[in-house]
Amino acid sequence: MKTKIKGIVLAGGLGSRLFPLTKVTNKHLLPVYKKPMIYYPIQTLIQARVEDILLVTGGNAAGDFLRLLGNGKEFGLKHINYTYQEGEGGIAEALGLAEHFAKGHPVIVILGDNIIQDDITPYVRRFQKQKSGARLLLKKVPDPERFGVAELKGGKVSRIVEKPKRPKSDWAVAGIYMYDSHVFEIIKTLKPSGRGELEITDVNNRYLERGELEYDCLKGYWTDAGTFESLYRASRIVALGSRRKS
Ligand code: G1P
Repeated sequence: MKTKIKGIVLAGGLGSRLFPLTKVTNKHLLPVYKKPMIYYPIQTLIQARVEDILLVTGGNAAGDFLRLLGNGKEFGLKHINYTYQEGEGGIAEALGLAEHFAKGHPVIVILGDNIIQDDITPYVRRFQKQKSGARLLLKKVPDPERFGVAELKGGKVSRIVEKPKRPKSDWAVAGIYMYDSHVFEIIKTLKPSGRGELEITDVNNRYLERGELEYDCLKGYWTDAGTFESLYRASRIVALGSRRKS
């Protein structure tokens, strides 16, 4: 595969689980400790030298991203690409909007509400060594029913279930995914799930069926920030982490 990986940050949706915090703004602009939430996933990509970045946003406050991030000078970038997702069609639909941007390159996709402590550089390197396929990052969590859950067998992922009522493992699929350029063909074949969205878990299961799904396990903390509890936790763990460093 082409070696240069393009980065895609997904920051659309209506943030309904955080209402009324999201009544007049986008979830990804809310504060997590000292920074707007969206800074964290952007910094995760840049730390791994993924600097060709597309931000997919949506909703009413989309223009605020441009005001906040501009051309990415604060992150050492010269340019950021933007696109707009209408409605709430799901993560896979939002990713589908990036096809023109990817232009046949592999992509690393990160959800705008995911806060990852690890430097992901080694995982990205391992993905670049794969000839094709996808690579996920997993993390053991106490509340797997809130996530995509990976079942493991013999060092391989055997199944991924989206928000299972009775999870068969405690390995959550973190909101950061690496895909070859076939991902856009796969997205075109998806059907909306029960919640009316194109699910990223369905994309991952397609790669699994093809025998092209690899994974690494995150070592440091990881959290989403899309609910009141997780938003509060995100601020707390980032604050604790930065205090430990100083
Ligand atoms: C989404 C994905 C889920 C993943 C999670 C990570 O969940 O559907 O598989 O584990 O992000 O944050 P959602 O944000 O839609 O609840």
